Amino acid sequence: MNKNFYITTPIYYPSGKPHMGHAYSSIIADFFARIKRIQDSKVFFLTGTDEHGLKIQRAAEAKGMKPKDFCDEISKTFKNLSKVLNLSNTDFIRTTEERHSKSVINLWNILEKKNEIYLSKYSGWYSVSDEAFYSDNEVEDVDGVKKSNISGSLVEWVEEESFFFKLSKWQEPLLKYYEDNPKFILPESRKNEVISFVKSGLKDLSVSRKSFSWGIKVPSNKDHVIYVWLDALTNYLSALNYPDASSKLLKDFWPATLHLIGKDILRFHAVYWPAFLLAANIPLPERVYGHGWILSGEEKMSKSKGNILDPLEIIKKYGLDPLRYYLIKEVSFGNDGNISQDKLESCINSDLANNFGNLCQRVIAFNEKNLNLKIPDKIKFTDNDMKVLDIFKKDYEKIFKCIDDQDINSYMNFIVEQLFAANKYFNDEEPWKKKSDILRLNTIIYVAMELIRKITIMLYPVIPTSSLKVLNIFGIKENDIKFASIQNHETLQKGAKINKINILFNKIEKND
Ligand code: MSP
Repeated sequence: MNKNFYITTPIYYPSGKPHMGHAYSSIIADFFARIKRIQDSKVFFLTGTDEHGLKIQRAAEAKGMKPKDFCDEISKTFKNLSKVLNLSNTDFIRTTEERHSKSVINLWNILEKKNEIYLSKYSGWYSVSDEAFYSDNEVEDVDGVKKSNISGSLVEWVEEESFFFKLSKWQEPLLKYYEDNPKFILPESRKNEVISFVKSGLKDLSVSRKSFSWGIKVPSNKDHVIYVWLDALTNYLSALNYPDASSKLLKDFWPATLHLIGKDILRFHAVYWPAFLLAANIPLPERVYGHGWILSGEEKMSKSKGNILDPLEIIKKYGLDPLRYYLIKEVSFGNDGNISQDKLESCINSDLANNFGNLCQRVIAFNEKNLNLKIPDKIKFTDNDMKVLDIFKKDYEKIFKCIDDQDINSYMNFIVEQLFAANKYFNDEEPWKKKSDILRLNTIIYVAMELIRKITIMLYPVIPTSSLKVLNIFGIKENDIKFASIQNHETLQKGAKINKINILFNKIEKND
């Protein structure tokens, strides 16, 4: 029996409309959720919106709206994006829901009871855009304006009474945890950044704000609202009905398998979140993966920079699966990556239309002409046939491990190599010259169709809609997809009818 798999995206600030960076986190998470499902794991896939804090309060004020009405409106656009991206999420959580505030209050009460929180005064820098406190050495003066040298965001000076979490106390336990669990933070380079940050000394963390009201009130002192990151991080538990000890979801899915986040919010997930959990005596998530940024030119795409590529417009123009494919394959996972319409078009032409689409089209058209859309009933594999098929069996453990290590790049390379190999096989075997040797002709068609089936199963988590169209050739429906079956070579029912397929991806005329 495979282990249960709980994957989360960051919950997004509904401060403006969703952009490519949000789409990226969500699509990658969906890739893992789908692949784990077809690997027979029980999957819980969570996404949602992070609706409290000064950033949202100010965004609402700028629109002359009440924060809750503002969030209701924008949260809908994120929910809609989940649909447009064809996410297979199990739940969508909003931090303004009661089920969430109940969990946050419970966690706060535990921390207070365990003496992990005390009242004092904060004076220091705060970035509303990042909802983060920065120390003096993390702030620089840029033309008379104070900015964080970590994120580049504006900071403002804050002096107010605040509750503090005893973060400093958890410095050594955290370092020990990183050492004992070397894959808790991935990729490796980011783990090292986190470790040196923690080693440089953790100060106690301000976990409440007094000067505004849009948040969950501190239960013991209603003048304060709980710091939005303590509030937001708890969503991963509240969606499982924490603290309800009888909750089946909580039993089945906590600790989370994978928090997928962008590298800019690693400190919150790999330092603060595990420290809160250690302090509350709650088991820690298995892994935090900090992916890179989607860049537009050399810069991070963001609202304040005005360089946003709107995922909805791209999808309208090119379709969803090409965008999913591009983000999963062309952006080297773990690193920053670029997207432009030009690059997207080249990728559609080379990988999707020429390589994958063409393979499906020509094999099925050849089948139609020679076998009248039937799976051959007699076949005999040669050594070479076995060789091209067997690679999926030989490399199976390796492919499986890629997934568990979040090595999407190797996974995608394997697919692309096999697409080339399958096209080459069909070319080299020249079935159109084998009309007098029916057994051979049949076998070549059978092998080519098996290769299409195996590759398409591997592509299903990447481009689900197109893959389902291809699998429909063989009558395979979504619930029947078994990842393990890529190891088998004679799954197609001999003599059965197959279905035709329309053009999957249109080639795009380019002017270069
Ligand atoms: N609300 C917090 C997360 C709380 S999780 C408990 C937040 N929200 S966000 O909307 O600003 O960003 C959400 C995610 O989108 C982050 O992981 C961030 O890294 C990602 N992206 C935002 N812009 C991005 C790019 N241009 N490229 C890739 N991802 C980036 O932070």
